Parts: sequence; C-alpha cells; structure tokens
Amino acid sequence: MSRRLTGFTPSGDLHLGNYIGAIAPIIAKQAVTDTVVFISDLHSLTLEHDPAEVRRRTLEFATILLAAGADPEAALFLVQSHVPEHTELHYLLECATGYGEAQRMIQFKEKSGRQNQVRMSLLTYPILMAADILLYDTDEVPVGEDQSQHVELARDVAQRFNTRYGPTFTVPRAVNPPVAARIMDLASPGDKMSKSAPSAAGVLRLLDEPDVLRRKVMRAVTDTDSVVIYDPERKPGVSNLLAILAACTGDEPQRLAGRFDRYGELKEAVADAVVATLAPLRDRYLRLADDPRHVQAVLRAGADRARGLAGAKVRQAKAAIGLLPG
Ligand code: TYM
Repeated sequence: MSRRLTGFTPSGDLHLGNYIGAIAPIIAKQAVTDTVVFISDLHSLTLEHDPAEVRRRTLEFATILLAAGADPEAALFLVQSHVPEHTELHYLLECATGYGEAQRMIQFKEKSGRQNQVRMSLLTYPILMAADILLYDTDEVPVGEDQSQHVELARDVAQRFNTRYGPTFTVPRAVNPPVAARIMDLASPGDKMSKSAPSAAGVLRLLDEPDVLRRKVMRAVTDTDSVVIYDPERKPGVSNLLAILAACTGDEPQRLAGRFDRYGELKEAVADAVVATLAPLRDRYLRLADDPRHVQAVLRAGADRARGLAGAKVRQAKAAIGLLPG
C-alpha cells in the first residue's frame, strides 16, 4: 500500500489555508492508505520562539487535527520530537545534501532576510523535513504549494543517497490540492494566508468563532470592477474567494463564477461555506480540549508505534552510509 505523510509546524494559528492545503487531503484518504500525520515541533525552533508557546501550540495543533478527523487508529499520529529517529536521520541526510542546495530554498531566503540572527536550523530545516518524509518510506506528501520545493529537495536527496549507497529510501512526490493549493490572505490577496501574518484580519483561523469568520469574509478585499470571474492574475481577491468556495464545496472555481452577479452574493456564499466547514471542527475541538490528558495519551501511543518503523529505517540508512553496526 502506498504511504502518505504530512506535518504541521506549531507556530501561530492554524488557518483555512492549512486546512485546504494539507489537513483535509491527508484525512480524506486515511482509511484507504497508510497515513502518517505529525506535529513538526522541532521546526518551530528554527525562528525565535517562546518555549511555553511551542508546548501549548503542540497540544493545540494535535487537538485540532483530531477534531478535524485525524483517526489515530487508522493513521500514525505523533509529535516529531517524540520520535528521536527524525533527528538521527536528519544528520545522515545532511551528509548527502549540498550547502548550496539548502541555501537556494525560497523559504530560507524569505525568512532569513527578515531575521537579525539567523539560526543554523533555519538553513537545515528542509533537510529535517526530508528526514521526516524519508524515515517512513513515504510515496505521497500532501502539501500546499509553498512546501513543494522542500518535497523536491527530499526527492533529490533520496535519489542521491540511493545512487551513492544503494537502494534505501522510497522517492516521494508532493501532491497539491487541485484547487486552492495557495490560499491568499483575504485582506491582502497578494500574500499567502499565513500563520505569521502581521494582522489576523485576512486570516480565517480554524478556531475563529462563526461570526468572526463571516465578518472577515464580508470584509475581504475584492477588485475595482464588479465582475465575478476566475482570473488569479488579474483578479486575485475575487479568484481567491472563488477558490475557497470551490475547495469547501468540491466544485470548480470557473463554474462557480458564473453563478454570481455581484461580489456581495459571492461573499455570502463563501461565508456560509466556510462556516459550514469550520464550525463543526471548532465544536469538536472545544470538547476535546477539555481532556488534554487523552490527547497526550494518543500522542504517546502514536510515537511508540512509529518508533518501530523509524528505528528499522535509520539502522538501514546507517549501515548503507558506512557506519559499523553497534
Ligand atoms: P506549515 O505548518 O507552514 O503548513 C502546514 C501545511 O499547510 C499548507 N499551507 C497552505 N496551503 C494552502 N494555502 C496556504 N495559504 C497555506 N499555508 C500553508 C502548507 O503547504 C503545509 O502543507 N515544514 C512544514 C511542515 C512539515 C512537513 C514535513 C510537511 C514538516 N515536515 C514533512 C510535509 C512533510 C510546515 O511548516 O508547514
């Protein structure tokens, strides 16, 4: 059976982009394919961080993923730092990755440009991500468009390692959602919807109350004329709303465009669809959040199960690269 894996970094608030880009796609197939879902807590240490906040967000993200339907019986569900093999494989893969390759990553360039002090881990972050993926012999990685370059790097590293040291890793590929692989910020449609946006006005957070979601959609920046067509280049605001509606209703943005004459009608429909998607998730979250010990027990069991698989893969990689078995 092919295996699908994806991860979520516990910094900032999870939003609709994360949901459409990766949460919904990974959960949709968990019953019919091997699935690994994890919270990539180590990745949140690559920028300045508050230790208490990372701990709090890790539990919050796990609870949200369970509320969204992640099923720990069907999928491996874990926190990255609970499975030390992620960091062990990371080092081995660093020895198969060029400095220039890591420096070329777009996210590294963007994020390092905004920092006074750049942490070494920000540069090596995509190699840890490659370790996350290759550790479990992953075939498919459902991600939003912004992570596709990192999955490409994981492919390159896997292929190089296999060529140099013998077949060791499955070569993965990124899978982007057919529409809305890059949801844009409602208040600033030139920027992607992001956990680290300076203002939450254009970010539809998964835990926003229904009336907050509705207000944000109704205030979304549209375009100067009033024609509803799907043209992401020339009409980014309206096209983003159409993409969101399409993703929430399983329709196509071009077809949906024909149904609306005015922006107001489109916004009402988007607000309804977003609330219908997120309100039940929020209700389930609030119930689960009452029992954090249950969530922690689920995470412990997930890590225990994962270590069996991960340990065997690390032993194989160590032997292939030339380390003497202990
Ligand atoms: P993260 O936590 O930034 O984002 C989680 C997922 O959400 C997707 N996403 C979006 N999709 C559509 N529109 C948007 N505006 C949008 N914003 C975010 C991301 O593409 C991602 O799929 N490094 C990763 C986590 C990670 C990982 C992995 C993912 C660590 N190891 C291994 C896959 C495989 C990250 O920080 O994603």
